[in-house]
Amino acid sequence: MPTALNFEPLILGPADTEPAPLTPIQEEILELKRQRNAVILAHNYQIEPIQRIADFVGDSLGLSYQAASADADVILFCGVHFMAETAKIVNPSKTVLLPDLEAGCSLSDSCPADKLAAYKAQHPEVYVVAYINCSAAVKALSDVICTSGNAEKIVARVPADREILFVPDQNLGQWVAKKTGRRMRLWPGSCYAHVLFTVRALEALKEQFPDAPIVAHPECVASVRDMADEVCSTEKMVAFCREAPGDKVIVVTETGMLHRLRREIPHKTFIAGPTDSCACNDCRFMKMNTIEKVRDALLNMAPEIVVPEDIRVAAEKPIQRMLDWSRS
Ligand code: 13P
Ligand code: SF4
Repeated sequence: MPTALNFEPLILGPADTEPAPLTPIQEEILELKRQRNAVILAHNYQIEPIQRIADFVGDSLGLSYQAASADADVILFCGVHFMAETAKIVNPSKTVLLPDLEAGCSLSDSCPADKLAAYKAQHPEVYVVAYINCSAAVKALSDVICTSGNAEKIVARVPADREILFVPDQNLGQWVAKKTGRRMRLWPGSCYAHVLFTVRALEALKEQFPDAPIVAHPECVASVRDMADEVCSTEKMVAFCREAPGDKVIVVTETGMLHRLRREIPHKTFIAGPTDSCACNDCRFMKMNTIEKVRDALLNMAPEIVVPEDIRVAAEKPIQRMLDWSRS
């Protein structure tokens, strides 16, 4: 018998009202965007007021394609550092802004480039598949990049005679290894936020909503993934939730995702996946971007993402390989 949750679940929806009018600061951002000829790209984990004024809201894969094809002068990237860096790598002639340069990622931090270089020096035979949640310097040392949206497809394309080193997320790596049947060496990194979801808390929530299917991000630990009806990237969660039977879905990922779901599927109810101590789970890095910082970034044209050209050129190859393999 699962223990009861000692807090109220976080439930969003159904959205039965028209969206609130834009606030003065949101209007100011849209005006600055026009003046700067900027495009605003936002990850699904951004706060709702940022998602609302973005030109595109999506997962890492969708955002990479958008960044590569952006023809505005400025890309204002509302996400975390590695995402904005990827935008700069694939579109170097653009000015790429990130509202807060400190918006990092625990996964990216878990694989420093010097450690990966040392590992490769000892094991030169490995084929490095790097989850996009890593620095430009790590990408520059990799053979191909993947996201949670295309990891299965990318790993399946790696020549069968090559031994794969998957960096930096051991949880995504385990999940892809199981899906593809490919044996892989896994870098011991993890997302500090996604590993907080537990089976214990999910079972207790499921007691309250027995008919609601569970969708979970592959960065969750195996026991949580095993409980889910579907494991997928944030973008694929939108399709899953749209098609899922019933009117409620339990969504086991960062809380910002619920705003995207509520906007696109207003007639359904979304319940945040809980941790042992909280009804929902924010990524502290994603949440460093505030609406004020978004306005200031466009006003001051800073902070700007800079990538040394030698690293940029080396990092572009595995990203381009991913974009090509992912399309075909
Ligand atoms: P997605 O590519 O699925 O949006 O995931 C990005 C991420 O950082 C998850 O924590
Ligand atoms: Fe990184 Fe985890 Fe935050 Fe995603 S949720 S940006 S993986 S720390």
